Amino acid sequence: MDSLIEYLDGKRQLVNTQLVNYVTANTYEGRVRDAMLYSIEAGGKRLRPILLLATIEAFRGNLSKGLPVACALEMIHTYSLIHDDLPAMDNDDVRRGQPTNHKKFDEATAILAGDALLTLSFQIITDSNDLTNDEKVFIVKELSKASGPKGMVNGQMKDMQYENHDIPLLELEDIHRQKTGRLLSFAVLSGAYLAEADDQSMNNLTAMAGALGLIFQIQDDILDVVGDSHAIGKPTGSDEGNNKSTYPQLLGLEGAIAQKDRYVEAAKNALHESGINGTTLSELIDYLSSRDR
Ligand code: IPE
Ligand code: IPE
Ligand code: MG
Ligand code: MG
Ligand code: MG
Repeated sequence: MDSLIEYLDGKRQLVNTQLVNYVTANTYEGRVRDAMLYSIEAGGKRLRPILLLATIEAFRGNLSKGLPVACALEMIHTYSLIHDDLPAMDNDDVRRGQPTNHKKFDEATAILAGDALLTLSFQIITDSNDLTNDEKVFIVKELSKASGPKGMVNGQMKDMQYENHDIPLLELEDIHRQKTGRLLSFAVLSGAYLAEADDQSMNNLTAMAGALGLIFQIQDDILDVVGDSHAIGKPTGSDEGNNKSTYPQLLGLEGAIAQKDRYVEAAKNALHESGINGTTLSELIDYLSSRDR
């Protein structure tokens, strides 16, 4: 575990430095840059970039190809959080242990900072000297699909529509797959693609990454109920306050934990099938499931 923590710290620092460089180099001095940097520097866990880089390492690929993609992914994730916190969405005041972007600045600035992070992410990929043109096209295509109207955005839309409504379990699973799972899956699958993993591994990793997305969002929902708001850096009770449909709300806390454990089994089995046991990826499955922040 100690070595995993060190691993996470090392990769986080790598990503943090590069993210700030990208934002600073591609913005004018002023309010848009300040608002982008505010949320980027607020201290996210960087789990998506880390998953991407860990997958590249599992297949002995080239990390320099992964870094721009990992940063682009984290920019999209950060934009999604800035917008998720807006009064029109979850209306939260604290994120990553600090006032949310719209609280620190204002709503218009938060919307624009989110827009800027989203669009800059694609520029980072197309500007990269480490990716071939074919790789750029593949990554832009997959990242836009994962983030867009059949991916994260649709999941967020349904998450809002199911406030105050009963939801069947399968529909809730579908929302989780879209709002959270697609970006997490992109992390694993783009890492495998860049490291030139074979088709068989890709298929198994697709199953692994799908389960991982569900594990991640169920744990997020659990932490919203029983987490320490200081540790998670955001308020607890937000879901209940917004009458969200979540696993704990639908199945109770014990039921949600049991369901998460089933996905952990599924993720580990799929990883085993892909033949890349014994890498950081298997430790990351447990870490994502049992994290307290
Ligand atoms: C929170 O994601 C939002 C979800 C998709 C559940 P993270 O828990 O990865 O948030 P940060 O990036 O560490 O702040
Ligand atoms: C948000 O889910 C997922 C995305 C931003 C796409 P939540 O609304 O549960 O995330 P938190 O709990 O505010 O981080
Ligand atoms: Mg939300
Ligand atoms: Mg939220
Ligand atoms: Mg949440």
